[in-house]
Amino acid sequence: MDLCVCILAAGQGKRMNSSLPKVLHPIGGQPMIGHVLVAASQLTTARPVIIHGHGGAQLQAFYANHDLIWVAQEAQLGTGHAMLQALPVLPSDALVLILYGDVPLLSVPTLRRLVNAAEADGFSLLTVTLDDPSGYGRIVRDAHGHILRIVEHKDASADELRLREVNTGIMAIRAEFLHRWLPALRSENAQGEYYLTDCVAMAVEAGIPVAGVTAANAVEVTGVNDRQQQAMLERAFQRIQAEELMRGGVTLRDPARVDIRGELVCGRDVCVDVNVVFEGRVVLGDGVRIGPGCFIREAVLSEGVEVLANTVLEQATVGANSKIGPFARIRPETVLGPDVHIGNFVEVKKSAIAAGSKVNHLSYIGDAEIGQAVNVGAGTITCNYDGAYKHRTVIEDEAFIGSDTQLVAPVRVGKGATVAAGTTVTEDVEPGRLVISRVRQKTIAGYQRPRKNK
Ligand code: UD1
Ligand code: CA
Repeated sequence: MDLCVCILAAGQGKRMNSSLPKVLHPIGGQPMIGHVLVAASQLTTARPVIIHGHGGAQLQAFYANHDLIWVAQEAQLGTGHAMLQALPVLPSDALVLILYGDVPLLSVPTLRRLVNAAEADGFSLLTVTLDDPSGYGRIVRDAHGHILRIVEHKDASADELRLREVNTGIMAIRAEFLHRWLPALRSENAQGEYYLTDCVAMAVEAGIPVAGVTAANAVEVTGVNDRQQQAMLERAFQRIQAEELMRGGVTLRDPARVDIRGELVCGRDVCVDVNVVFEGRVVLGDGVRIGPGCFIREAVLSEGVEVLANTVLEQATVGANSKIGPFARIRPETVLGPDVHIGNFVEVKKSAIAAGSKVNHLSYIGDAEIGQAVNVGAGTITCNYDGAYKHRTVIEDEAFIGSDTQLVAPVRVGKGATVAAGTTVTEDVEPGRLVISRVRQKTIAGYQRPRKNK
């Protein structure tokens, strides 16, 4: 039977107090509903159905490039009403997996178990047992343990409220059953809503057994209603990622103090110190060490690279055994070769620096091409911007740039040339030459410094 995924995402998320639709709020840098879509894509190739309401336009705009089936639920009259809106797009010979856009951490193995449990009779329900079940629909079973019905918290008797097995809301059900039962739902209950959960009693009445599947843990079925729950799931998600990395051989000095908002690919014996944030896809080669307090986004670091404390690195490629930081800023479109040293308070933007070159202190290198074995002295500035256009600076192999140099681009320093400290380079320097543009030092005798009158 073909599997079709339906994602409920029409709720307002009032308690988020946000102008962003709830399901677009991120966990690990990805919208909650994005996690659900990733899980869905691992289960079936069928286009997912998204039931939207509040913030639907924003949601559709965000996923404009995705192949999704959009179903509008104009008024939020309950989960049963939401699924009723989707009926026209559900082929009646499909098995429907119903997920929530605000339950982001469901694991694929759990969903597979749920889908498999529905194979025989066409209806399975994901449940979980909680110490504090308040707010949730309770699973009512008969003396033999067969599921009879779900009673919502607000409709439950005192006895039923003591049940700790709850409905996660996630279920797998034949579309054929939904077509039969959803139009028959009534809203005579404490909330005046059409409850999807009433399908359980309808199945039992029709003699169709409902299979209960237990979730692996409470976290994977936890929904987000407010910022506190979002923060709680964020920590849980980061913990899951950290544990996966450690299993793969990565040293995390403190697994509670690393945040991965994207994909982190690590070689062998990578070590990450505390308070490091990774964003987007980051690749760390064998033996890479990341110091404390670094921010690294969309970067590829080859083996043996060492990034020292408080360094920011974005959209850059770093060659083997290079050393960067502390307090360095590597900006987009930077390509560093092997054995390059970038030291403290150095900013590099859209530049290529080849093997063995060093920029160790207090410099700005922008729109530059630096060859091999170049030494750039402290306080060197590429003057790359004339107020309208950016210009390139080229420094050829083995050049030596003295401290406090300004390179007014476009300009080229030839191979092996030497620029004396304090020079403003405005014209190209021939290979092997020394260039100096420094005012000759004068000494004035008998000088009196001004003094304040008392
Ligand atoms: C529902 C279940 C309850 C279960 C709980 C788990 C019903 C009647 N109850 O509770 O048994 O314990 O989930 O969290 O199904 N939604 C819509 N349209 C609507 C209403 C809801 O799209 O008209 C979406 C929400 O955006 C949310 C999900 O459905 O993603 C669940 O809605 P919510 O109101 O949180 O669940 P309850 O009805 O309280
Ligand atoms: Ca709820």
